[in-house]
Amino acid sequence: MKRRIVVTSALPYANGDIHLGHLVEYIQTDFWVRFQKLRGHECVYVCADDTHGTPIMIRARKEGITPEELIARSHAAHLKDFTDFQIAFDNYYSTNSPENRELSESIYFAAEKAGAITRKTTPQLYCEHCKMFLPDRFVKGVCPKCGADNQYGDSCDKCGSTYGAEELGAPKCTTCGSTPVVKDSEHLYFELEPQHEYLEKWIPGHTTSDVSNKLLEWFKEPLRAWCISRDAPYFGFKIPGTEDKFFYVWVDAPIGYIASLKNWCDRQGKDWREYWNSELYHFIGKDIIRFHCLFWPGMLHTAGIEGPDKVFVHGFLTVNGEKMSKSKGTFVNARTYLDNLPADALRYYYAAKLGGTVDDIDLNLADFVQRVNSDLVGKITNIASRGGQMLQKKLEGRLGALDAEGRALVEKCQAAAGTIAGYYEDRRFNQVVVEICRLADAANEYFDRREPWKTVKTDLEATRTTLTAALNAFRLIAIYLKPVLPAYADKAMALFGETEWTWETLGTVLENTALGPYEYLASRIDMKQVDAMISAATVKPAESGEVAHESRASKNKDKSAAPAAVAPLKPQIEFADFEKLDLRIATVENCEIVPKSSKLLKFTLNVGALGERTVFSGIRQAYPDPAALIGKELLLVANLAPRKMSVGVSEGMIIFAGEPGANGGVLFPAAAAGAGTPAT
Ligand code: MSP
Ligand code: ZN
Repeated sequence: MKRRIVVTSALPYANGDIHLGHLVEYIQTDFWVRFQKLRGHECVYVCADDTHGTPIMIRARKEGITPEELIARSHAAHLKDFTDFQIAFDNYYSTNSPENRELSESIYFAAEKAGAITRKTTPQLYCEHCKMFLPDRFVKGVCPKCGADNQYGDSCDKCGSTYGAEELGAPKCTTCGSTPVVKDSEHLYFELEPQHEYLEKWIPGHTTSDVSNKLLEWFKEPLRAWCISRDAPYFGFKIPGTEDKFFYVWVDAPIGYIASLKNWCDRQGKDWREYWNSELYHFIGKDIIRFHCLFWPGMLHTAGIEGPDKVFVHGFLTVNGEKMSKSKGTFVNARTYLDNLPADALRYYYAAKLGGTVDDIDLNLADFVQRVNSDLVGKITNIASRGGQMLQKKLEGRLGALDAEGRALVEKCQAAAGTIAGYYEDRRFNQVVVEICRLADAANEYFDRREPWKTVKTDLEATRTTLTAALNAFRLIAIYLKPVLPAYADKAMALFGETEWTWETLGTVLENTALGPYEYLASRIDMKQVDAMISAATVKPAESGEVAHESRASKNKDKSAAPAAVAPLKPQIEFADFEKLDLRIATVENCEIVPKSSKLLKFTLNVGALGERTVFSGIRQAYPDPAALIGKELLLVANLAPRKMSVGVSEGMIIFAGEPGANGGVLFPAAAAGAGTPAT
């Protein structure tokens, strides 16, 4: 029976590049979709850029362009990356679309009509300088639970507790560094508790048990209402009936799935509801489960729209066993990869690793090179290159007929169809690869046993018989591989002079036909290419925004690293200028307020072999408690000419970054000085 299936991948944010982590998702969804199409089902794969929210607005502002310009640029770049990785969407749309606005409004109206929308006034942090309420990820301060510094407004990386941003100690706007004020704002909430029972029943049937067990823990307590509004300025859709409230990006993002499908259906003259109501599957990463298995089905249910049949959740990508890191060069963008390595290699490796569970997957770079070379090239492709080239050169490129042994090999390959289809359907792509390698082993073993390189000198027809079996085995293997390696399979198909492969093609055998020209299918990759990629991806720690980034993968997801404001650069200096500075680490032996000065602190420093120094520094506003600096280390310009001040002689200069003043700044080395805000 022909199925109708709609499949989605999560919509990537428009404010960042596609990277190898994202690709874990888009590549596996593509495997699954291509498999369904190969089987002859009607399968529609829709996606879009997720374009709304504060990070996109801020980024556009910083670049001096409109958000619309920014998202147009990202859309083109994302689509190019996906296309070059052979990810074939039926529609790649945008959440900033008329369809999405209309659908978002109508789903909101339905929720309002059902009494699910409530209003509450809550205190929130507001930056007077940036003239905006600060999302959790745009404010940092001291954790109210454990006192750790430099924590975001939603949760603490050190102790793991969650809290409201207004509870942070010494909060700072991450955009401009100023201290926000607390201001009341009225917000709209989507009430989830009325759907407690519905969702508790819905969840177990619609995702895997590892995911649902975790979700159901929340159901021991009443479900908290979800805040769905954001204050202006915000790049998004205005909430109808309000003056300056916008839908929170996570409201219109999943509705973007419907909008993308609707846009596709409209263009085909089809009814989107018929498609939406057919089989529907969402592929997502484990960090966004809450949005897809709680808020989303809750919202849809209230609006009387069907939810997905299943939410397929995958884990996160690690590289060499660790979280991707910009400073280690393992945070690799799709484009950086493609500049150095072939897409097929990554698709093959991901297939070999993905088992359809929520476990993280590791890209071990040495293993990657080894697996691609030994299995994809050395084992699988080798059958075609050895057999195909010999047949072209010595036997006019014509296949003959199978003998009994050859038929047995081919039938063995055909017999795997059911098992392989089952693995594909269950997203156990790693098992698909295991099966395929098993068949390739059998084909190689047959080839080696029949020694065609020897018989070609004595018995041409026997050689043709051997090659016919080996090449037929390869053909079946290439059909099995088609969802994983579509471009590769197309080249293989051309080798056999065919124009269309479907799952049905597996039932056929090619005898007494001519091969097409042999085209290169896959070549070995080299660790040097990997090294070049890693070095291209390596970002100096100061530029990487690593701290901001790495905490993002963890929990609540209003993520995106907050960029720090940059002061205009002073004129460039030469190395010779820099070289004149003699920088030394010094320990603070004593630090005290200078009477009658609002700015100065008096330091007594121990500069190791250079002995003791007295330095006056104008950083009192950033460090109101001088005693707290005693025992800390800092960086000193030790060869600055002593300067006579009204309060005494200053024998050096302490290095400090940022605006000295109440807005903070930092002594170097920052960690040793225990400073509160990053250097600006
Ligand atoms: N915009 C939201 C999704 C909205 S869906 C209605 C978002 N975007 S994202 O760009 O951050 O992530 C897109 C998808 O890529 C998510 O499913 C996410 O889990 C996945 N991944 C992002 N980084 C990843 C890894 N490092 N590893 C594996 N998947 C990752 O979330
Ligand atoms: Zn600000």
